[in-house]
Order: sequence, then C-alpha cells, then structure tokens
Amino acid sequence: MSAGEVTVRRLAILGSTGSIGRSALAVVDAHADRLRVVALAAGENAAQLAEQITRYRPAVAAVATEAALADLRARGVAGAGTSLHAGAGGLIAAATHPDVDVVLCATSGTAGLEAVLAAIAAGKTIALANKEVLVMAGALVTSAARRKGVPILPVDSEHNAIHQCLHGRHAGEIRRLILTASGGPFRDLTLEELQAVRPDAALRHPTWQMGKKITIDSATLMNKGLEVIEAHWLFDVPADRIDVVVHPQSIVHSMVELSDGSVIAQLGVTDMRLPIQYACSYPDRWDAALPRLDLVKAGRLDFHEPDHGRFPCLGLAYRALREGGTAPVVLNAANEVAVASFLEGRLGFTSIPTLIERTLNAHEVRSVSTLELVRHVDAWAREYAAATIDGLRVRV
Ligand SMILES: NC(=O)c1ccc[n+]([C@@H]2O[C@H](COP(=O)([O-])OP(=O)(O)OC[C@H]3O[C@@H](n4cnc5c(N)ncnc54)[C@H](OP(=O)(O)O)[C@@H]3O)[C@@H](O)[C@H]2O)c1
Repeated sequence: MSAGEVTVRRLAILGSTGSIGRSALAVVDAHADRLRVVALAAGENAAQLAEQITRYRPAVAAVATEAALADLRARGVAGAGTSLHAGAGGLIAAATHPDVDVVLCATSGTAGLEAVLAAIAAGKTIALANKEVLVMAGALVTSAARRKGVPILPVDSEHNAIHQCLHGRHAGEIRRLILTASGGPFRDLTLEELQAVRPDAALRHPTWQMGKKITIDSATLMNKGLEVIEAHWLFDVPADRIDVVVHPQSIVHSMVELSDGSVIAQLGVTDMRLPIQYACSYPDRWDAALPRLDLVKAGRLDFHEPDHGRFPCLGLAYRALREGGTAPVVLNAANEVAVASFLEGRLGFTSIPTLIERTLNAHEVRSVSTLELVRHVDAWAREYAAATIDGLRVRV
C-alpha cells in the first residue's frame, strides 16, 4: 500500500436498526472513504432496514422472521442488488459473507450468539456491543476466537475504555479493572420509592440514549453486572479484581489500576459513536466530528460505592460469575424474562432481582461445554422464570 492510501474495512452490522446500529451507520457516513457496509441485519423493523438497504446497498441483508422478510420485499428493495434472508440462518449469512472484514454485533438479547461463533469460525474480526453473547457463552466464544486468532474488540463504552487503557500493557501489570456506572435514573431513590417505579420512568436514562432492554438494565444495575462478566471474559481478570464505582457524570468511561498503583482512565463525551469508531479504526485513530469533552464545563467528577441493598442485581451478577459454568446463562435468561415482564407491567421493579435470584437458586450449575447446553439451560431458565412470576408481587 502506498503512503496516503487508506484501507477500506468492510462491515457487517447485526442490529443495524437499533441504537448502536444507527450510531454505527453514522460512523460509516463520517468515514465513507474507510468503511463500507457489506451486510445489514435487523429483527422486525423492515421499514427502517429497507431505507438502509436503499442507501448503503449491502450485498446481503437479513431480518429475524419470514413476516419481516415479506414486508421487506413488499417495500421494493429487490432492485438494490441485495440478497435478502430471514431467521437465524440469515443472521449467519450476514455475519459470514466472504467480503466482510469486521462484524459489528449490536443485536439485543441472545440472538447474535450463533452468528458471532460463525463469524469467528470464518475468521472475521468481531466488534462486540451485544454483551449478552459473552455473558451466556464467554468460555466458548473467547476460546474459539483464540483458536482462530480472531480479535474481539469491545464496543461497550466501559470495555472499550479499558481496552484503550490496557494498550501496550501485559496481564501481569493489571491489578484491577474499575468499571464506572452512571447509577441509572433511580440512584437516589429509597427502597420504598423503587417499589413504585413505572416502566416509563425507568426508560428515561440520565446520560445515555439506548434500547429499552439495556435502559432497564441500567436502572437495576444489572447492566453493570453483565459488564463485570463481559470484562472477565474480554480481559481474563477474575471477579475479585473487577470493581464497580458509581460515577453519575459518565465522563470517565472506566479505569485500570496497574501493579505500581497508577490508575489509567479513559474520558470522553457520552456518545457511542466514539467507541464504535475506535473499534472500527483500531489500532489506528481517526478524526471524529464529535462534540469535544469540556472538563471545565463538567465542573466535577463524583465517584461512590454502588448500593447493593437497593440494587441487588449487581451482586447477583458477581455471584453468577463466581459460581461460573452455566450460572451466568441462567442470570441472563431470567433477567430478560424479568425485564420484559416489567415493561409489560406484570412485574414490579424491585421484583426483578427476586425473580432472577429464585431462578439462580433453582439451578444446578454445570460447566459450559457446548452451545447446545447453553441453549438448553437458557430455555430452562426462561421457562422457570416465566412460571415463577405469578408467585411474585404483581402490579398492573
Ligand atoms: N445502546 C447503547 O448505548 C449500548 C451501549 C453498550 C452496549 N450495548 C449493547 O448493544 C446491544 C444492542 O443495544 P441497543 O441499545 O442498540 O438495542 P436496540 O436499540 O434494542 O437494538 C437492537 C437491535 O437488534 C435487532 N434484533 C433484535 N432481535 C433480533 C434478531 N432475532 N435477529 C436480528 N436482529 C435482531 C433489532 O432489530 P429491530 O429493531 O429491527 O427489531 C435492533 O436492530 C445490546 O446487547 C446492548 O446491551 C448498547
């Protein structure tokens, strides 16, 4: 390559109609000379995906269901030269297309797991936003990536920050990882006030604009718990050396304490385009037309301990990580059932951790040996949690 020539990275964006997916396309727009969209995948939002297909003309596009595929076809996108698919196979076709270099996995929930494993097997670089993939199957995914020599670049802002802080360091130098948490919209509420929380209030996050599931997870602090598990798998650091501090301003995205006591932090504005771009540009850095961080304007940075009494989900995630094996699969599945039920008005906010704990208590932990076992335990936990909801305090 001659001096000044740029390498074009070809992307598959799984979850392109979601919050992260749309931000990723904004990064593509800002770097059209360096990034090209080869594959797009979404769940049900055929209208938005059709607009994206018309604009980016990917080689392949996929939706989750046959109904969404019919809707997509009815929108007349066939002429864009894009091959259209549906279902789990479609997601895999998007993730493994031969022209794809980097797969940005930004689906919500657990749908992306098989596609990420298929992308690793096909030698693609993974840019991972969908933390549930590592929570469910961290051992399988990271060992497959190691075997294949495929990098997993974190998009989650905290892990992206840690990845930046660790640049050039080796494992023996890491004393602990310090994940920051905004504390969510209810960080100052009493336990009694938390019992009265409604979905619309929980969906108003103070510092980040995100999809519904992760917004509720942020309010319960389960998001931070899932991130502790994600950090364990990404950076190979045990639970007792991963700390969480509440930092309401969300300016310090996370920190690493090194063996000599130095603490390295990454700071930035609260805009997911920054970690998405870094995952796309790594190991280079590109200019970004984002608002600049103004620390004088920010004025102060506060840090305090998370309150495990009011927010038990964080402790449950630590418990699942320490128990290991299939425990995080159960944690994740029970949490998804609990969050969906809370959003439907069938479960109180403070019953979310109760449901997860009961499901964890009923499970006998096994070591994670195969994807089939992960899916089996995931299905069991969803069924158990769904059947347990009726016994909990219900609110409508
Ligand atoms: N948002 C953030 O700032 C943020 C930050 C860090 C990490 N994350 C993580 O990134 C992931 C995505 O978060 P988000 O906030 O972007 O969620 P979101 O706005 O709810 O978007 C989810 C995306 O996944 C798609 N999807 C859902 N089910 C699917 C399936 N079965 N097959 C294919 N696509 C499917 C959705 O498609 P349709 O809308 O078309 O149905 C949508 O494009 C989550 O794991 C989250 O924890 C998000």
